[in-house]
Amino acid sequence: MTSSSPLLQVRDLEVVYASSSGRRQVRALAGIDLQVQTQECMGLVGESGCGKSTLAKCLLGLVPAQQGSIKLSLPAEFRTRFPDLEQLWQSRSGSKTDPGLELIGLSGKAWRAVRKAMGFVFQDPLASLDPRMRAWQIVTEPLAMHGLASGKALRKKADQLLDLVGLDTQVALRYPRQFSGGQRQRLGIARALALEPPLVICDEAVSALDVSVQAQILTLLRELQQSRGTSFVFISHDLSVVKQIAQRTAVMYLGRIVEEGPSQDLFEDPWHPYSRALLEAVPQPQVAGRERQWLVAGEAPSPANPPSGCSFHPRCPLAEDQCRRQFPPMIAATAPSRQAACFQLSSGEISQ
Ligand SMILES: Nc1ncnc2c1ncn2[C@@H]1O[C@H](COP(=O)(O)OP(=O)(O)O)[C@@H](O)[C@H]1O
Ligand SMILES: [Mg+2]
Repeated sequence: MTSSSPLLQVRDLEVVYASSSGRRQVRALAGIDLQVQTQECMGLVGESGCGKSTLAKCLLGLVPAQQGSIKLSLPAEFRTRFPDLEQLWQSRSGSKTDPGLELIGLSGKAWRAVRKAMGFVFQDPLASLDPRMRAWQIVTEPLAMHGLASGKALRKKADQLLDLVGLDTQVALRYPRQFSGGQRQRLGIARALALEPPLVICDEAVSALDVSVQAQILTLLRELQQSRGTSFVFISHDLSVVKQIAQRTAVMYLGRIVEEGPSQDLFEDPWHPYSRALLEAVPQPQVAGRERQWLVAGEAPSPANPPSGCSFHPRCPLAEDQCRRQFPPMIAATAPSRQAACFQLSSGEISQ
């Protein structure tokens, strides 16, 4: 695995769910292309139902893909720490010119090795933490599960992990219900970092927390990115959070990425009409324990019954005939490197 390739390279990824009746199909991911570099935080934004969590689960091998490719290429400094992953890559890779390990189609056993290199933090820490486990057991669970430490060494590691996420080591014996929401999310993060993975996938990891706790967690993630070279896929429907943490941002709409670029450029000058609408949308007041909602005019269509052509056309103020008939190709610019899928963008316009 060479370090020059992106850490994660996703191509044409498709996930189709059968509806509960089994009669309809929901194309939750309709061809996703995405790259995440080493030590980069890639933000992923979009309205509820656009496929963000499906993408996170598919990257973690928890939801099968019908089509496409996910390649993981570990940078040199991580390779020696994940020897079974390196071995897997060597046994799989027919050609040494192919730097990445293809994750689609791996067996359950192989996924175990892959998941060591991928931490994940989900929205609801209480639901994802075993209420009968003490804090020290929770944060060291991956180490114990993979047989990487036991006894005193495990307890010592627990103290280091609690310290890393800013929790007093005296809380090691407490149970999840004895922590606040923010502290529980810190436990979830400590657990995700236990194996020092090169990639951490955060799905709405701070969405349930109030603003000051959110800020503390974001600072913690940024420090880890700097000190450990960790990459993040940071999913949130909350644009202000993504703007703070992500170097690049991808905007999703109905199972596709419609715009991607450096966060600063994208937030200052969004190209895609949907990105513009998202940025202009009015944040609704946050209700305790509930996701804050951004309201974009018009109704989000269902992936079970997607519109023809560009899926945003029914809500787009710029839509023309062509937009109703054909899905627009990505138009890309190089400096800075950004792209958007919209017929109304001319290459001349975006290179200005
Ligand atoms: N297990 C499932 N079975 C059927 N449909 C699903 C399932 N999970 C998600 N979906 C559908 O897939 C689409 C994308 O969902 P999701 O990935 O959860 O979006 P987001 O995280 O952006 O809110 C939605 O239409 C949702 O209803
Ligand atoms: Mg989700």
